[in-house]
Amino acid sequence: MTVTIVGAQLGDEGKGGIVDVYGDAADIVVRYQGGDNAGHTVVHEGDEYKLSLVPSGAVRGKVGILGNGCVVNPETLFNELSGLRERGLDPDVRVARRAHVIMPYHRALDGIEEKAKSESDDEIGTTGRGIGPTYEDKAGRRGIRVGDLLAPDVLRDRLERVVPEKRAIVEDVFGVPVEDLDNPDALDVDAMYDHARTYGERLAGQTVNAGQFIADARSEGKRVMFEGAQGTIIDIDHGNYPFVTSSNPTAGGAAVGSGTSPGVVGQGEVLGIIKGYLTRVGSGPMPTELGGVEGDTPGYGEQGSGENEEIATYIREEGGEYGTVTGRPRRVAWLDMPMLRHSARVNGFTGLAINHIDVLAGLDEVKVGHSYTLDGEETMTMPATTEEWSRCEANLRSFDGWAAFDSAAVAEDGYEAIPDNARAYLEYVSEELDTPIYCVGVGPGREETVVAEDVW
Ligand code: IMP
Repeated sequence: MTVTIVGAQLGDEGKGGIVDVYGDAADIVVRYQGGDNAGHTVVHEGDEYKLSLVPSGAVRGKVGILGNGCVVNPETLFNELSGLRERGLDPDVRVARRAHVIMPYHRALDGIEEKAKSESDDEIGTTGRGIGPTYEDKAGRRGIRVGDLLAPDVLRDRLERVVPEKRAIVEDVFGVPVEDLDNPDALDVDAMYDHARTYGERLAGQTVNAGQFIADARSEGKRVMFEGAQGTIIDIDHGNYPFVTSSNPTAGGAAVGSGTSPGVVGQGEVLGIIKGYLTRVGSGPMPTELGGVEGDTPGYGEQGSGENEEIATYIREEGGEYGTVTGRPRRVAWLDMPMLRHSARVNGFTGLAINHIDVLAGLDEVKVGHSYTLDGEETMTMPATTEEWSRCEANLRSFDGWAAFDSAAVAEDGYEAIPDNARAYLEYVSEELDTPIYCVGVGPGREETVVAEDVW
């Protein structure tokens, strides 16, 4: 039995909290894509943990795995692990030998490429963690894998070919003198070899053949949870390209990125995580946008009315909508149903978790983008190109708002205790997506979740 957790929107749907709620009964929690771009906040026994790479299940004493689909910055990994140990936890995290390594030159290139694009307002607004350049090297068959860190000869050969190429790109393509970089050693073969070997030695005891490890655990009856990072609309294939991350957060990624068969993932539950409204940290269209963040909407800018800046500010402050990794204020929008219909189809959700219903409390009315108008025609799902998406106008539907409520009491009393108007809103979403609601987040703490269905 497996459970796969997938963000249905643009990331930041509160997946960490849901992994925390259902992860209690799991034995193993596997991340299958992304790297230290994934900010998740886990609240455990009153303490808040902010992680960007370590699977959130590791906070709760589960075996955490970074699957082959991940890109791993070993420096972040060891910093996060020692941070958890200092707070009295004993995290057990294994890393796939097939996962790719984020090297210092990837991080440098992420910054250089974004800066060059920003000169024509084309930047993606990446987290600057080197994610894109590392996946580029993976697809270009010149990446360094975790297993290579343990094989000195392979590592040296690879670096001797790759590092001079990166140096030439930095100097000749982008015209940036290497000595001007924050870390000029990123383009020095010997320095990169020493860096990689040092981390290789530290990692040696915790690497695994992840697909085999997971299969063995399953054959012993262990419960496996796949923890997606980011969200469907920033998936490299199904998202709003090019304003995407470079991996597959969608449910298919759970199979490919962990070495588990799609049949196994498909026989399990695929839980779609939805935030009761919508936020985004980077560039790109957002047809239901309430009000942008100045200077943070390059590319397409605001499509929403923008006149509702006050509501956007209310939601941003109530929901603490600032990036976990970067601290950037998030753009805020009403729920976007064409986006969610696309997401439900791509992932095959078997259940929904709808979060942050408490954040909307206190508004007179709550709206959703029910459909779009594109070139004079009504459309119910997201178009395939980002240029078309940027021309979509949202057709809004209005719901009566609900007053603030006692989250802990509602969580304890169950689904029926959720205010009537909020339930009408939730049920609309469930019916439109033809998917049952498994749980509802009514506050940031683990105990502030109304669990209507046990996924296991
Ligand atoms: P990258 O993943 O750093 O390359 O960034 C690519 C795009 O994905 C940017 O728009 C980022 O803001 C966005 N992104 C990456 N990780 C997350 C996340 O965990 N939550 C929300 N957005 C993210």
